[in-house]
Amino acid sequence: MSNPHILAVPFPTQGHVIPMMELSQCLVNHGFTVTFVNTDYNHKLVVNALAADESQLSDRIRLVSLPDGLEPWEARHEVGKYCEATQRVMPGKLEELIEKINQGEGDKVTCVIADESAGWALEVAEKLNIRRVAFFPGPAAILALQFSIPKLIHQGIINDDGTVSRSQMIQLAPDMPTMKTTEFLWACMGDLTEQKIVFQLMVRNNKAAKLAEWIVCNSAYELEPAAFTMAPEILPIGPLQASSRLGNPACYFWPQDSTCLQWLDQQPPCSVIYVAFGSTTVYDQTQFQELALALELSQRSFLWVVRPDITDKTSDPYPEGYQDRVASCGMMVGWAPQQKVLAHPSIACFLSHCGWNSTIEGLSNGVPFLCWPYFCDQFLNESYICDVWKVGLKLKKNENGIIPQGEIKSKVEQLLGDENFKARASKLKEMGMTSVKEGGQSHRNFKNIIEWMKT
Ligand code: UDX
Repeated sequence: MSNPHILAVPFPTQGHVIPMMELSQCLVNHGFTVTFVNTDYNHKLVVNALAADESQLSDRIRLVSLPDGLEPWEARHEVGKYCEATQRVMPGKLEELIEKINQGEGDKVTCVIADESAGWALEVAEKLNIRRVAFFPGPAAILALQFSIPKLIHQGIINDDGTVSRSQMIQLAPDMPTMKTTEFLWACMGDLTEQKIVFQLMVRNNKAAKLAEWIVCNSAYELEPAAFTMAPEILPIGPLQASSRLGNPACYFWPQDSTCLQWLDQQPPCSVIYVAFGSTTVYDQTQFQELALALELSQRSFLWVVRPDITDKTSDPYPEGYQDRVASCGMMVGWAPQQKVLAHPSIACFLSHCGWNSTIEGLSNGVPFLCWPYFCDQFLNESYICDVWKVGLKLKKNENGIIPQGEIKSKVEQLLGDENFKARASKLKEMGMTSVKEGGQSHRNFKNIIEWMKT
C-alpha cells in the first residue's frame, strides 16, 4: 500500500496559497507527503522569495506548477479574466499532472485537497476517482452565503446572474452578522462583467463542493457559532495559524523584510501600530498620502507594509520629505513576516484591511484592530471584529470617500485608550487556542479527517 500522498491545490492568489500551505504543513506534521500545486507564475514568485528569505520548506512538501492560461506579462489582478483563464486551462493540466504522478515510481495521489474556490480541481479528482476534501480558507459565514445562492435567487434578493436588485441589509440566520447585499462577495469584485464571472464561478463551486467528502474551513466554532449551525456541512479546523504555530508558511510571493523584527525589539511593549493591507489591496494616491500623514500625526511608532504595488502611482508615493520626517518613529517595509510581527510584544494594534488571514492572525495573537475593509469577505470580517467580537473599531469615510487623517488619529486614540479592547482580544486568542488543542472541536475535526485520509 502506498503512503498517504496529498495533492494540495490552492486558488492561485496569495491570500489562498498561504492558508493552504499552512494546512499542508499541519499534514506533514502528521506524516503525510504533500505535492503542492501553484501556477507557473506564482511558483516563480515563491521560489524567488524562498531563495531571498533563506526560508526552509519541509522536504515532505514538493512544489510543482501548472500554466494558468495567461501569458507572463498579462495582468492577474483583472479578476474576471483570471478566473476564466484558470478555469479553462488548469483542469486539463491538473489531470495530466495527476496521471503522470500516478504512473510514476513514487507514491500515488491518495487524496486531493482543493480550495473550495477552485472547484474545478474537485471535479478532476472525482473524474479520476480520487478522494476529495474542499478547504475554504475564509470565514464559514461567507461559504454559507455562497451555499445560499439558490435561496437568495428564490427570495428575489439577487437575480439569476448574481446582480443585486437593491441595496439592503440581510441576515442569513439568527445571530449571524448582517450583510449589505451590495457588499456580497461577488458584487464588489471589479466591474459588472467581472462580477457576473465571479458569480458563475461560485455557482460552479457550489456544485463541486457537493463532490467533496469533507468541507473544512479555517475558522473555529467559537468564532462563528451561528454560521456553523446554519451550514453544518462546513467543519471548522482552525485557526490553522494557532495550531501550526509555525508562523512561516514559506510560500510568499515577495521576500520578507525581517529587519523590522530587530526594529520592533527596540520598541516598548504595546507601543507600535502595525499597518498592513494584505496582498491585493491598492489605494489611490490621495488616500495613501492621507494615511501617511495620519500615522505621522498619531505621534506613535508604526510599522507599515508598503507593497511595491500598493498605490496606482509608479513613482515615490509619499508626501514630500515624509520618509526623513518619520525616520525616528516609523518603519516601512515591502513585505513583513506578518505572523511574527503580530506575535511581537511591542505591537499595540493592527490597522488592517480585514482579510480573513490577517483577521485570524491578529486574533491568534490577541491584537485589537482598526478596520479598513476594501472588498470581498472583508466587510463581513469587519462586522465580526467590531460588532460581534468587539475587538476593534471601524474607520469611517468622509463625503469624498476618503478616510481622513483626523478619523484615523482619533480612532487610534480611542482603541488604545480603552483597555477593554485588548482584554477581549486576549480572551478571543485563548478561545482560538482551545479550539485547536486536544479536546477542542477544530482539533477533533482535523483528527477525524486525518484518520479518514490514512485509511
Ligand atoms: C485575500 C482576500 O483579500 C481576503 O479577504 C481573503 O480572506 C483571502 O484572500 P489578502 O487580501 O491577501 O487575501 O488578505 P489576507 O487574507 O489578510 O492575507 C494576507 C496574508 O499575507 C496573511 O497571511 C499575511 O500574514 C500575509 N502577509 C501580509 C505577510 O506575510 N506579510 C505582509 O507584509 C502582508
